[in-house]
Amino acid sequence: MVGKGVPPETLQQIRDRIDLIDVISRSVTLTKTGQNYKGLCPFHSEKSPSFSVSPSRQVFHCFGCGVGGDAFTFLMKREGLGFMEAVQELAKLASVPLILEARGGQDEKAHSRRERYQHIHAVAAEWFHANLTDPERGKTARRYLEQRGMTDETINMFGVGYAPAGWNGLLDKLEKSGVNREEMFQSGLIVKKEERSQEAKVGGQGYDRFRDRIMFPISNHRGQVIAFGGRALTDEQMPKYLNSPETALFAKGHTLYGFDKTREAASRLDRLVLVEGYFDVLALFQAGVQHVAAPLGTALTTDHVQTIRRIVKTVFLFFDGDAAGIRAALRTLDLFLNTGLTVKVMELSPGDDPDTYIRLQGIEALTQLEARAPTLLDFAIQASLKDRKTESIEDRVRCVDEILRILQKTNNPIEKEERIQLVSERLGIRVQTLMDRYPMLRAKPNRAPIRTQDPQPKLATPQRLPKGSPEERDIVILALQGVLSFQHIQQLRSEMFRVPQYRKTIELIFEHVDAEGRIDMESLCADALQDPEFGPVVTQLTLADSHFDDHLSHFQECLATLERQHIQHSLNELISQLRVAEQGDQSDDVQGLMEKINELRGKKAALTTTLPIAKPGEP
Ligand code: UTP
Ligand code: MN
Repeated sequence: MVGKGVPPETLQQIRDRIDLIDVISRSVTLTKTGQNYKGLCPFHSEKSPSFSVSPSRQVFHCFGCGVGGDAFTFLMKREGLGFMEAVQELAKLASVPLILEARGGQDEKAHSRRERYQHIHAVAAEWFHANLTDPERGKTARRYLEQRGMTDETINMFGVGYAPAGWNGLLDKLEKSGVNREEMFQSGLIVKKEERSQEAKVGGQGYDRFRDRIMFPISNHRGQVIAFGGRALTDEQMPKYLNSPETALFAKGHTLYGFDKTREAASRLDRLVLVEGYFDVLALFQAGVQHVAAPLGTALTTDHVQTIRRIVKTVFLFFDGDAAGIRAALRTLDLFLNTGLTVKVMELSPGDDPDTYIRLQGIEALTQLEARAPTLLDFAIQASLKDRKTESIEDRVRCVDEILRILQKTNNPIEKEERIQLVSERLGIRVQTLMDRYPMLRAKPNRAPIRTQDPQPKLATPQRLPKGSPEERDIVILALQGVLSFQHIQQLRSEMFRVPQYRKTIELIFEHVDAEGRIDMESLCADALQDPEFGPVVTQLTLADSHFDDHLSHFQECLATLERQHIQHSLNELISQLRVAEQGDQSDDVQGLMEKINELRGKKAALTTTLPIAKPGEP
């Protein structure tokens, strides 16, 4: 991965100082087996360990799900961080000062501002929570939570609190904790008074934003509180929910409520249930559905989607059963299209919402809903086909225009075909009729363009090794595992490798080998991991089992086979050139080609090999 703004020396310094085993051991129990460590993969659920870590090579790979990488990749995947965030975290762990290029002083200021901001939020969260547990002050709020079925355990887990009714309770608290006015205003928790406003008469220069509300702390990925959502206790109080204003350190479009606590379960189960509200998250979590999160009263954004797809492959939308909930689900269609995420919809009847549903029906019913959930695309098709049977064909076709327009944007031709088939069956219109209409449908102007490019480096998608070419594979494994001497490696030529991934790996080895045959694996892996598709191929090969009885004789056999194959391929190429030359009557060329062919045949004969190979097209 290339860190924009981080000097390569700094990255190297971080790599030098941290031990991947330590980093991974923070969340995975590793046991030493042979040269490597093994453990249960944190990225998919499994009963026997297929997650391998190499201490000498500082890479990990899971042979179950195919995820692999270095310490940076591990944190990104494990904690849903962007590359820069992972660098920051590891820099801290390694005590390497992060001096970002072209910034510097600015950054330090921003850093201390962030610490102050977090300090204020930590003080506030604690104070709100203390109010809730206070026998007198927190009475009404506690009763409200109890009515909504929240247990103390859930309340404590999510740090739920209470902002009392006065104008300056928090202000006083912050003042006593040494926070100055300017910082209070910047935090968004204290509102600055306009000189002549109504509130100015209440006294002082500022007042608490949140008054007489249940307080939900909103945390960043590390679990640090960065904002609050406050719910009114009565229907009269408006608005029902009041959220912290957006600040430099809190953007609603980036944050998912609860995800700091639920990410691990989501990652383990490889799926996430997305709900709409704070209480939905709490209720599901309390019922044992711990892979749940919610956007913060805003529509889902591409940033949310990026965060989610770093952690899971499947998303369940679990919204209210009313028309608004259905619309909200449908609105995400564009956003999820072509992201690689599978999106499903858990359907509720009108009037139900996730919070009440789980409390009344329990987790079993919810599991059923999950199992029955149609894909978002099918859900959208169903939604627009409902009750259309009676209308004219024209009307019926028009109602699927929207869907066909969406379908047109999928990159997946099979999906397109299947859905057209489905629409055809549902509407009772021949596929051909739809097809005829289909190419004419254009995306409406003024629609947001689809994002095809990620702003963030994409994370490794599991990648299996190519089938076939076991000789190429074994040579690469032997080289990566440090079994070969420089003399051996020198005998290799990248042209012998026909599988692009193996060839690329061999070329990387050439770049990172020293005169004694030692391969600088850390920088090799770092290079490889710049390509999220290729990185896991290298980690897999590095950690692959090499149960060859005799490494060197196996190497020699593989090499001989590759050489023979290489010669054969060159021969085939020359022979087809020869045929062309003969037809064109270019006798000079014919002569030259014949000489080359004979030379190669000689070489081939000189190679003793154990494996017979096909000789297509040789005269
Ligand atoms: P809902 O109004 O559907 O809330 O808003 P809910 O979770 O069902 O609320 P309860 O169950 O009555 O307490 C869903 C989400 O939209 C945001 C909040 O994040 C809320 O959780 N919202 C809602 C606001 O930001 N402001 C509002 O006035 C209302
Ligand atoms: Mn609700």
